[in-house]
Amino acid sequence: MAIDNNPLLLSCLRPLVGLLIGQENLRLYDNLDWEQTSNRFSANDFTYPEYYSSKNFHGIQGGYLNSIAPVTYDAVARFAAPPNETKLRQQAISTIKNQPQRILDLGCGTGSSTLLLKQAFPEAEVIGLDISPYMLLMAEYKATKANLTISWQQGLAEATNFPESEFDLISVAFLFHETPVHISQATLQECWRLLKPGGQIIILDGNQKRLRHTDWLIELFHEPYSQVYAAECVDIWLKDLGFKQIKTSYVGWISQITTGFKIE
Ligand SMILES: C[S@@+](CC[C@H](N)C(=O)[O-])C[C@H]1O[C@@H](n2cnc3c(N)ncnc32)[C@H](O)[C@@H]1O
Repeated sequence: MAIDNNPLLLSCLRPLVGLLIGQENLRLYDNLDWEQTSNRFSANDFTYPEYYSSKNFHGIQGGYLNSIAPVTYDAVARFAAPPNETKLRQQAISTIKNQPQRILDLGCGTGSSTLLLKQAFPEAEVIGLDISPYMLLMAEYKATKANLTISWQQGLAEATNFPESEFDLISVAFLFHETPVHISQATLQECWRLLKPGGQIIILDGNQKRLRHTDWLIELFHEPYSQVYAAECVDIWLKDLGFKQIKTSYVGWISQITTGFKIE
C-alpha cells in the first residue's frame, strides 16, 4: 500500500513526521511554493549531472531535486553524524588556522556549516554553493532567520565559475560520500585552483576506515556512493594534488575531519 496514495494514513503519520523534522519544516513543506520560489537559484543553462539526478539519495525519490530533501535533511544529518553533528562541524571550524576573508562552502546543502562559518568569521564574505535550488532555498531561509548575510549560488563543486585564487578557505562538509570518486577528486582539483596561496581546505565527512566495515549503515541511509568513498583515502587525494600539512582526525563515532594547505 503506497503511503502517498492513502490520505487517512498520511494524516495519521503527520504528527510523527512533525516530531522528526520539526513543525516549522513541516509548515514550510506545506505552505511554500517550492517550485516557484527555488527557481530563483536555478540558472537557465544549468545541466544536472547524471551521477546526481539519477540517484535517490537517502531513499528520497528524485534525491535532492525536490522539496522533501531540504525539509528532512537536517533531521537525517543529526542521525548520520553522531553523537553531536553541530559539535563536529564546530570541531572542523576550530582547525582553521588564519582569519579567512573569503570563504566558500562547497555542496553547502541546507547551510548548516555555512552558517557556523559566518558566525565564526563575521567579517568574512561567505558563499555557499550547491547543485540543488531546493537545498539553497532552505539554506537561505536559515541564514535569514539567523540574521546572517551569506551568498547562495547554484553550481557544480567540481567546475565552479569563480576565478582562480579567490578564497582563503574552502569547506567541504559531507559531500564526498555522495559523489563518485572521480568527481570528488575533480572537486579537490577545483579547490586547489580556487584557493589563494597558503589557503586552507577543511573536509568533514564519514570516517573512511570505519565505513569500510559498516555496509549496513550505508544501506540504512541509502547512500549510492559511500562504499566507493570508504574504499578510498582523502589524504592521498590531497597529497596527489600537492596539498601540504595534511591531517586527518577521527571525530565523533563515524566522522573524520581532514585539513590541508595550498603551499607550493
Ligand atoms: C549530504 S549533503 C551535505 C550538505 C552540507 N554540506 C552539510 O554538511 O550538511 C550533500 C549536498 O551536496 C550537494 N551536491 C552533491 N553533488 C554536488 C556537486 N557536484 N556540486 C555541488 N553540490 C553537490 C547536494 O545537493 C547536497 O545538498
